[in-house]
Amino acid sequence: MAKFKTLDDFEVKGKVVLVRVDFNSEIDPKTQNVTSDVRIRAHAESTLKELAEKGAKTVILAHQGRKGDVDYTSLKSHAEMLQKILGCPVKFIDDVFGNRAKEAIRELQEGEILVLENVRSWDGETKNNSPEKQSKTELVQNLAPLADLFISDAFSVAHRGHVSIVGFTAVLPSVAGRIMERELNSLGKALEQPEHPCIYVMGGAKADDSLEISKYVLSNGIADYFLVGGVTAQLFLAAKGVNLGVPTMDYLAEKQLIRYIPGIKALFDQYEDKILIPTDLAINVYGDRDEIIIDQLPTNYAIFDLGHKTVATYTKLIASAKATVVSGPMGVYETPQFNYGTKAVLKAIANSKAFSLAGGGNTIAAIQEYGLSTKMGYISTAGGALTEFLMGKKLPGVLALETATETKKI
Ligand code: 3PG
Repeated sequence: MAKFKTLDDFEVKGKVVLVRVDFNSEIDPKTQNVTSDVRIRAHAESTLKELAEKGAKTVILAHQGRKGDVDYTSLKSHAEMLQKILGCPVKFIDDVFGNRAKEAIRELQEGEILVLENVRSWDGETKNNSPEKQSKTELVQNLAPLADLFISDAFSVAHRGHVSIVGFTAVLPSVAGRIMERELNSLGKALEQPEHPCIYVMGGAKADDSLEISKYVLSNGIADYFLVGGVTAQLFLAAKGVNLGVPTMDYLAEKQLIRYIPGIKALFDQYEDKILIPTDLAINVYGDRDEIIIDQLPTNYAIFDLGHKTVATYTKLIASAKATVVSGPMGVYETPQFNYGTKAVLKAIANSKAFSLAGGGNTIAAIQEYGLSTKMGYISTAGGALTEFLMGKKLPGVLALETATETKKI
């Protein structure tokens, strides 16, 4: 059962609700405009639409990038995009908690939405601290007295103990927004009480993250099988003592991934029969696809995909699963000659009757490209937060929400 309250537990009509969403999106470096509306649309079509329809006075807190980064911008274009998606006026004020922001909040009418400026334009935002300490900061001290409720809807930032994520939960009644609620319920199905057999498929380049996730889900009996692709597969093969050839071994060394080999070896010692590694691979021979079996390694060509035999083994196992979690592509899926593994694995997951959870920017892009979005059980919009959650870490933003629910009556 959910340990947090939701929008069903609070009457929002006529109330000022402070909603922390995650609008952090891809930005065109030249125009500074938002190029992907995935996150804005997700919040708009659930929590924000519901609040407007119920007559709440909605105040949005969000961030975009970090000071000094190329994607650090104002939230003005995010507010414009939100207005287009919702089809109703959305106000924007280039102030976070100064007099102009406060005035704009006081003027809000029922059903209206106001987007405040990028919360990271205030330097205090990104310091991590406990909800109690964060509640003493300027941001919370200025905005909380104007609000009736805090809605935590930014699961994808919940791995940060930042002021706007945890601070309000110490002083205001706090509930999960619909995105937060959906993420936590879906992740529960993949991590807390998954149906078995439960299969984790981890690819992509973040092999160190995959190792941490594999340790957690295998040692806690969450995953029955752990299938690897992408750079993760290369590192796992190297840990098995396979010499992959100069280009790949150099790449693993350059990315400082070799240091994880002892940890992977220890994992193999304990869970040999649960971890599946490729038996064949696709290599890039001057732009063309060629396939080799593991016994033919080392190769002087770069490894770009799983081979057909490996894909057949993986997809057969996936078809027998009751729950599947996938993150990271199986190869260089952006190049048509090398998208076979990623496409076949995602299709197998989409076509199975098992509950499926997919996450990670590239995985979501591939799912969309292959038209599989509606066939996945749940697609998480989170990146780092999802990774940390799958590693079994307690996220500060989730913890703050649960603690608020325990201590404060609504
Ligand atoms: C994300 O995009 O993963 C979140 O918005 C968190 O952003 P951050 O890594 O800049 O804190």
